[in-house]
Amino acid sequence: MKTRSVFFYISFALVTVSGFAQNYEAKVDSLMNLMTLQEKIGQTVMYSGHWDQTGPIIGTDNDKYIREGHMGAMLNAMSVKGTRDLQKLAMEESRLGIPLLFGYDVIHGHRTIFPINLGLSASWDLKMIEESARIAAEEASAEGIHWKFAPMVDISREPRWGRISEGAGEDVYLGSEIAKAYVKGFQGEDLSQPNTILACAKHYVAYGAPQAGRDYHTVNMGEGELRNVYLPPFKATVDAGVETFMSAFNELNGIPTSGNQFTLRDILRGEWGFEGFVVSDYTSINEMIPHGFAKDSIDAARLGINAGVDMDMMGHVYRLHLEQLVEEEKVSEAYINDACRRILLAKFKLGLFDDPYRYINKERENTTKYKPEFLQKARELAAASSVLLQNKQQALPLSKNTKSIAFIGPLVKDEYDIIGNWAAKGDRNGKAVSVFEGISEYLKPEQILYAKGCDILDTGDSEFAEAISVSKKADAIVLVMGEGHHMSGEAASRTSLKIPGVQPELIAKIREANPNKKITLVLMNGRPLNLSSEVALVDAILEVWFPGTMGGAGTADVLFGAYNPSGKLTVTFPRNVGQVPIYYNMKNTGRPIPESNPKEDYKSNYIDVPNTPLFYFGHGLSYTSFEYSDLELSSESIGFSETLTASVNVTNSGNYDGYEVVQLYIHDKVASVTRPVKELKGFQKIFLKKGETKDVVFTISAADLKFYNHKMIYGVEPGVFEIAITPSSDFKFENTFTLKD
Ligand code: GLC
Repeated sequence: MKTRSVFFYISFALVTVSGFAQNYEAKVDSLMNLMTLQEKIGQTVMYSGHWDQTGPIIGTDNDKYIREGHMGAMLNAMSVKGTRDLQKLAMEESRLGIPLLFGYDVIHGHRTIFPINLGLSASWDLKMIEESARIAAEEASAEGIHWKFAPMVDISREPRWGRISEGAGEDVYLGSEIAKAYVKGFQGEDLSQPNTILACAKHYVAYGAPQAGRDYHTVNMGEGELRNVYLPPFKATVDAGVETFMSAFNELNGIPTSGNQFTLRDILRGEWGFEGFVVSDYTSINEMIPHGFAKDSIDAARLGINAGVDMDMMGHVYRLHLEQLVEEEKVSEAYINDACRRILLAKFKLGLFDDPYRYINKERENTTKYKPEFLQKARELAAASSVLLQNKQQALPLSKNTKSIAFIGPLVKDEYDIIGNWAAKGDRNGKAVSVFEGISEYLKPEQILYAKGCDILDTGDSEFAEAISVSKKADAIVLVMGEGHHMSGEAASRTSLKIPGVQPELIAKIREANPNKKITLVLMNGRPLNLSSEVALVDAILEVWFPGTMGGAGTADVLFGAYNPSGKLTVTFPRNVGQVPIYYNMKNTGRPIPESNPKEDYKSNYIDVPNTPLFYFGHGLSYTSFEYSDLELSSESIGFSETLTASVNVTNSGNYDGYEVVQLYIHDKVASVTRPVKELKGFQKIFLKKGETKDVVFTISAADLKFYNHKMIYGVEPGVFEIAITPSSDFKFENTFTLKD
């Protein structure tokens, strides 16, 4: 048995002497006094294990680096056995025995996979989103994982970009609220508990606004746009206590975000006071060389550490060059000390110095994953995340007594794509519940007809005939179509937003063969799609995103009315890709198109399509109907120190109990910089039994109306504000209040 490292006894003594005092600073300082410069640099180095691949393969000798104390963290390393072996190597074969940190991309679940994050956001259910994160943390931590590279909080109005699937959509307010929910769910109340793990706000910053929607592409924007739109969700994670950040791949206004002192030191550290550590994205420090910002890998290391990136993911540059840069006085040793201290602090907070094996428990690993309550929550979230985009002829809900229903499409029996991209250790080989399996809970075999009709990316129509024949035999038709999971997520941008392959043609043929039958289209996709053709061909469209491990069950619950759909879009669906970027809160311009005359000359519009989207942000139908009435304001004007209450009655006027997401929007009519035509400033998800009415009340203060002006001063300006409480962003304001100086 190897002798225990000298550090272990010192830290053990510290812990027993000081008990479990939270004074980690002193412990970190005493540890750092024992460390060589190379060992401090070692803490800033992260390489990948072999349990998953999330970027280009790069040769590393992990065991050697661990023994030398030249690696402080690993990504893609998991399982009780795997992490125990690695931790043992660090504890017993390195000089100081500093525990390793294990990180992984647990983005929307670890084993139990929830809907993709764009889908989760459509639930507008902060409590359920937090619960999904808690479950993900339970499952991941049971397999030795201490840290997850989530939440991804990139605002995006760019549906061509594949990673729009990983975020919470286009809106700042909603994105910020959801970001906080994820951090709370992942980190819990006490990081020293073995079922709580470090969260990581990524990708800092503005990664969601790539030119032409192409992943990793250039980002240019004014500081006002950066501060009013792309920074707030990151600030929200800091306010929620996030322990780590991840810098991004993209450049921002000419400076790569992994070498950007303005965003990393001036804003994140200086303005926000963030005290956690920043990890680069996968080789994003080296990539400053192809960016044309770093001369070589030594220069890249210098730029990264000087900008404030504390840990180098997969880059080799910190491990190989930081010591030389300190010796040449091109990098201050203080920066190395800061980075090392932040990383060690995180390990102390996790309790890894009290017990490096605290996340390693075979019994817990065997009994945590796929707990029935986890799967049930995944089923509920699959239903709650789905959005009923249209429902002509009340095609939905389906009746269990329908004589026969034809289920057609490449995703009817899918158990592989249904869990979406970034699905961690989700099972793609039979664990997930397909739509076909889900509907089998509601229909007898003799009621179900099936044909695949085509594959997702087929170019031919060889299977059309069978599908058309099957459709003609049925009383109702359900098409389950969409994208493959690989068509969104990282490095998966598309120039077209159409449903891929020959699926659109199959939809048209099915309609042609069944002119009067009710046809429902269930969509699985990772981005807003151009459904301009489909809206006229089918009666109902149910957007289920990639609904996860229990996706087929949750989708069936909605199709048959066991769950009344309540999801609302958090991204705008354009009429076509030519409208992009299009989002609900754009500016009015000096030549807005008048509603009364959409064809008026010399206005800001297109000659081929209207300015309006196909489906609005906030849109989502229910099987019931909700009436909004009697908007009341507590006063016509408020001062800067006063609050305004705005209330409305919402009545469930239909035949189904259900949830409704009531949304509060304002519009700052005149300001020192132009303001968006609408801004979401609040929402409440309420449950109403049929016939029930609730008075929904919002409170607004001047603080809710702040924005960065042209001098980058964050403040509020007096003036007239329009206000509305509505079911979606598709409305016209009818009320105002005045904010008085
Ligand atoms: C990837 C992604 C990032 C992920 C990281 C580690 O390239 O950009 O989101 O967390 O590398 O897998």
